[in-house]
Amino acid sequence: MSATLLNHHMVTHEQWGNFTETDHNTWKLLFERQSLLLQKRATKEIKLGLEELEICSNQIPKFSDLNNILKRKTGFTIVPVKEFIPEDLFFKFLSERKFPSTCFIRQPNQLDYLEEPDIFHDVFGHVPLLVNPIFADFMELFGHKGLEAHNAGMLKFAATLYWFTVEFGLIQSANGLRIYGAGIISSKGESIYCLDSDVPASIKFNALRVMKTKYHIDSFQRTYFVIHSFQELFDALHNLDWDEVKKTCMLFPEIEQGIALNDQEKIY
Ligand SMILES: [Fe+2]
Repeated sequence: MSATLLNHHMVTHEQWGNFTETDHNTWKLLFERQSLLLQKRATKEIKLGLEELEICSNQIPKFSDLNNILKRKTGFTIVPVKEFIPEDLFFKFLSERKFPSTCFIRQPNQLDYLEEPDIFHDVFGHVPLLVNPIFADFMELFGHKGLEAHNAGMLKFAATLYWFTVEFGLIQSANGLRIYGAGIISSKGESIYCLDSDVPASIKFNALRVMKTKYHIDSFQRTYFVIHSFQELFDALHNLDWDEVKKTCMLFPEIEQGIALNDQEKIY
């Protein structure tokens, strides 16, 4: 393992008592705004996860409370980290069924956009799906596969796959497209845009196709990949062989966002 895995100075202790009234109020504003917006936009597992974890608007949740429930449901625990952590450490945590979460909340003037993840993104966006057994297994598997990718020099491809699924994924439901990606779940603007705008292309999920797609960290996506179930996601990741991916991916150029390569991959 690389030395960065030992960088445990990035791991911290939860200091929930340090949150101010303003912090809890920021959480409340974000929680209420997104809950309303997501009623008919998010996949049902998000709402279920929020309920099961008893995450509510009145205060920033305590990791210790969340962990008591999470541990019982799927064996996941939240690990408080100070900041963005290196990918190999991140994947190491996931492989141990640990989810690293930041511990600070954005300032009141940053409600609409924050480049780095904060506790609203991590806890409201990511944690609800960790009570879903299949999604929890998928996240653990992502940890193992991410470490494999790191060792195979394929980290960029693993990061791209993570981006278009865990952060910006959509899922097909009986009632139409729904959001499951945490990057969208925690963003007011993108949770409207991804389903209502004609600009982005919705494309059938295919792991290799995803990994060849360019992504942008500073603007809304112009391509979203659509799965049918979390099982589909788990199976696709399970079947990934980084040597095969390397051979196949080298044959194709990167794909710009906003286009479908053919009619078959489009979702209307
Ligand atoms: Fe995230």
